[in-house]
Amino acid sequence: RKLQLSISQLEKGGYPHFMLKEIYEQPSTLVDCIRGRINPDTCEVKLSGVIDHREKFVNARRIIFVACGTSWHASLIGEHLIESICRIPVEVEYASEFRYRNPIIREDDIVIAVSQSGETADTLAAVELARKAGAFVFGICNVVGSSIARATDSGAYIHVGPEIGVASTKAFTGQVTVMAMLALAVGRERETVSDAYYHEVSSALLYLPETLEEVLKVAPQVADLAKIFTYAHNFIYLGRGYNYPTALEGALKLKEISYIHAEGYPAAEMKHGPIALIDAEMPTVAIATPDHTYEKTASNIEEIRARGGKIIAVIARDDRQVRRSADYVIEVPVIAECLMPIVVSVPLQLLAYYIAVYKGRNVDQPRNLAKSVTVE
Ligand code: AGP
Repeated sequence: RKLQLSISQLEKGGYPHFMLKEIYEQPSTLVDCIRGRINPDTCEVKLSGVIDHREKFVNARRIIFVACGTSWHASLIGEHLIESICRIPVEVEYASEFRYRNPIIREDDIVIAVSQSGETADTLAAVELARKAGAFVFGICNVVGSSIARATDSGAYIHVGPEIGVASTKAFTGQVTVMAMLALAVGRERETVSDAYYHEVSSALLYLPETLEEVLKVAPQVADLAKIFTYAHNFIYLGRGYNYPTALEGALKLKEISYIHAEGYPAAEMKHGPIALIDAEMPTVAIATPDHTYEKTASNIEEIRARGGKIIAVIARDDRQVRRSADYVIEVPVIAECLMPIVVSVPLQLLAYYIAVYKGRNVDQPRNLAKSVTVE
């Protein structure tokens, strides 16, 4: 038994849980994800899955993402990236809904299946359906040789190494990183991206590992915040644009490992109903990093404050405005807007982690959940 214990501690690399180890691994997993795909001298992005099927991507009429859970959240960011950089219309589908809806799929559609495990039953079934309908199917998986990786026509692995914690962390940041590289590679081929923007994003991708090292320094402060909110019964997570899916992902992390009810919303939707929930007992995690909707987000946050809600804001270090409305702030470094979900997701992972630890939850194996859902 002693021996077993030490083996399991070894596997966790000195961390108390796999989830914390995987959160801290992100600077290095992103090195592996980017390695060989972005030339550090020229900032050129090369993805073999795109090079080998250039015509398919150049002529795609539509891209449909199919995924579940965290991979679905990453796909929502992929939608934003591909629509803005490649100007191809994108739809994002829950694999479980897609497969039973008799969806319209054409031969010039590209279906992108996103799955960490590559074994999720609904995503695999969606892949099979899309292939039967004649679409080109591209996989974004982590597990090499997994069922989805084998069933797709082409793909790009995220290469973040085994993810053991049931709550997905490093897979999410790897998925978004691959999607950003995919959008740049395809945008270049379709000539829909300016040189300046291409270089801004690809060089920010190259610096992601350093950026995440920097972000991780907020951990002790997030741990303190988690102590304050350990006994909250509900949480709201707000974001807009690229960070709306980050809000959904932050809420999912909290739900699955701490068992606290949490909802993610696009910040501007609050006034269409959910703001009725706001009182002193309903904390809001608001993502308000600088982007083209910053002013709007700031006024959404002000509305929550005016109703007595407690606000934890994720902001830039030099933020002046939202800092004044927030009760607590988490400061993060700022990089290209389309990559901010990668930065912002890290403190949200930590917040969920520490709250779950303080509640005494089984962080790595939360109740009722399995790492990969291979049944319907
Ligand atoms: C994430 O924290 C979850 N445990 C879950 O939502 C997961 O992302 C989902 O089941 C999809 O898994 P996959 O990426 O392996 O297909």
